[in-house]
Amino acid sequence: METMLLDSSESDLATAAALIRQGHLVGIPTETVYGLGADAGNERAVRSIFEAKGRPSDNPLIVHLADFSQATNYTTSIPKLAYTLAEHFCPGPLTMVLPKNERIPMATSGGLDTVGIRVPSHPVMHRIIELAGCPIAAPSANTSGYPSPTSAQHVMADMNGRIAAIVDGGVSKFGVESTVISFDDENSVRILRPGCVTRDMLLEYCQCVTIDPAILKGLADGEKAASPGMKYKHYSPKADVVMIEGTASQVRRFAEENASDTTYFVIYSGDEENFPGKYITYGADSLQQAHSLFAILRDLDSLGADKVYVRAPAHDGVGLAVYNRLIRAAGFEVITL
Ligand code: TXA
Ligand code: MG
Repeated sequence: METMLLDSSESDLATAAALIRQGHLVGIPTETVYGLGADAGNERAVRSIFEAKGRPSDNPLIVHLADFSQATNYTTSIPKLAYTLAEHFCPGPLTMVLPKNERIPMATSGGLDTVGIRVPSHPVMHRIIELAGCPIAAPSANTSGYPSPTSAQHVMADMNGRIAAIVDGGVSKFGVESTVISFDDENSVRILRPGCVTRDMLLEYCQCVTIDPAILKGLADGEKAASPGMKYKHYSPKADVVMIEGTASQVRRFAEENASDTTYFVIYSGDEENFPGKYITYGADSLQQAHSLFAILRDLDSLGADKVYVRAPAHDGVGLAVYNRLIRAAGFEVITL
């Protein structure tokens, strides 16, 4: 199959929407990362998403809508708090897990009786959903286990020949996937995956926001995942990634002792002067680090890195999202200096 590269013109978006209606897979831009979209109600199309990514079939897909008001068509009940959060965060990088109805096939929900609903803010994605006239199921458009794509070129690298088309909507604004939450009770939510809608932002509207422990630790053997995605290896480039906790000067001393031709250090922007090893900077604050992390993990493979030490990001705010992706990319290997 030849994978078409489409742009964001109205005629190309109509082509993308028609392909989705016909049951094909299309790489689509969102404000978080690129998605691999299909008609969420078409079981055969949804199964081909899992096939193209090499994704375990019990890992549910997020369903994308043009407007939160459409969520009533695909769920059995929606808590009042979900409407409040939708008012403030939709469209945007927030996914809410809600009880699904029969219009969402089990193939889409990975066998669960819930569905993750998200209303993306990227205008290209929004227009594709409108034109397709159906809910769009879309996981991140990477090969399963590899870093998520934040550009059309990343999607092409992973999916060329396996999907009908890719729509180029530019580089993703946030660079990490949406915040996924579930509802614990009428006033409380649980963060299953941190993203750019942070705990503090949610606390403005919720009495209690629990950070699921698996976000930072990973699961113990036999422990049940609140979100199936927690179980799987993620975001890993070919290189062996290790996270290092320490100050800029501690990281510098560590680099003096551990530099080699194929070892790279991912450090904060501003810390690079006379750095004693091969390095890439990934931003000076958490938002910048979120924006560049996945692209850098991909670049490190092109550079032939075999060992990568990344200075740990902040653990709060958007930093928690970056930390969560990195600790998985590192297979939970952390060196504290
Ligand atoms: O920003 C995003 O969310 C991107 C863009 C394309 O929208 N999508 C994305 O999808 O990251 P994916 O499939 O790569 O990650 C979805 C995560 C998985 O960890 C999955 O287990 C979890 O959300 N999830 C989806 N539906 C769920 C459900 N019903 N209950 C619990 N977790 C769910
Ligand atoms: Mg993913």
